[in-house]
Amino acid sequence: MRLEGKTAVITGAARGIGKEIAIRFAEEGAAVVLVDMQPSEETESQVRALDGPVLSLAVDITDYHAIESMMTRIHEWRGSVDILVNNAGIITREGILDLTKNQWQKIMDVNLNGTFYMCKAILPDMVAQRYGRIVNITSIAGVIGDITASPAYGTSKGAVNTLTRSLARQMAEYGITVNAVAPHAIETDMSAQWSDEKRSSVIESIPLNRMGTARECAHAALFLASDEASFITGETLNLNGGFLMD
Ligand SMILES: NC(=O)c1ccc[n+]([C@@H]2O[C@H](COP(=O)([O-])OP(=O)(O)OC[C@H]3O[C@@H](n4cnc5c(N)ncnc54)[C@H](O)[C@@H]3O)[C@@H](O)[C@H]2O)c1
Repeated sequence: MRLEGKTAVITGAARGIGKEIAIRFAEEGAAVVLVDMQPSEETESQVRALDGPVLSLAVDITDYHAIESMMTRIHEWRGSVDILVNNAGIITREGILDLTKNQWQKIMDVNLNGTFYMCKAILPDMVAQRYGRIVNITSIAGVIGDITASPAYGTSKGAVNTLTRSLARQMAEYGITVNAVAPHAIETDMSAQWSDEKRSSVIESIPLNRMGTARECAHAALFLASDEASFITGETLNLNGGFLMD
């Protein structure tokens, strides 16, 4: 098992991509902490059925005090954290002409500041043990700009791609790798908001001619979190069926 004995914290783990990452990591022997502002009992029992240790915590990642309390709970439960997956994210669809200051701020608070807060809280564990894996789930929008979302979304994700490279450089001396997965067109609640017309046009634009799955995102996150990726850091891995090849 590739994550035997490791403790992994996954944000936005109640559903969608985060849920699949939690399941995939538990299948590989990790003790998983499911972090979400709206935890799901169904997800928790699905992960628990895999027989590994599971802790489910209600945490809003925009609230730094809540994150500090979360760390106390995790330390009591398992000791230090080995793997952090920053997956929680939100999206809105307004164009720049309609986007309000509050909408902009909210996206930045969750997608960018929340990611920073989680790294800030967990990195001391990783530095102390001279080992850690951080995987940030960003988006193709953070690489090429927004196709379907508000410009706040792509800007927040692009900033996390840059944060990924900055932390990778600064944390390398402690044996900590920091990478990102940048998905496009994954079947989850987030993409379920698309119209049929939009869905068809997105699929037509993808060389592999289909949407991706949350399970496929989880495989990529697992690879970057595992020791198989020990010489990879600062990388943003495209996961888009060939839509963007760079
Ligand atoms: N679905 C896609 O096509 C797609 C494409 C590119 C990138 N992504 C990214 O992948 C990640 C997961 O996407 P998804 O489609 O599974 O989303 P989703 O909306 O299905 O799930 C997001 C989860 O994050 C949680 N969450 C939101 N705000 C939070 C907060 N402040 N604190 C704690 N938890 C919070 C939600 O409760 C939810 O459980 C996001 O970062 C998203 O931007 C998704």
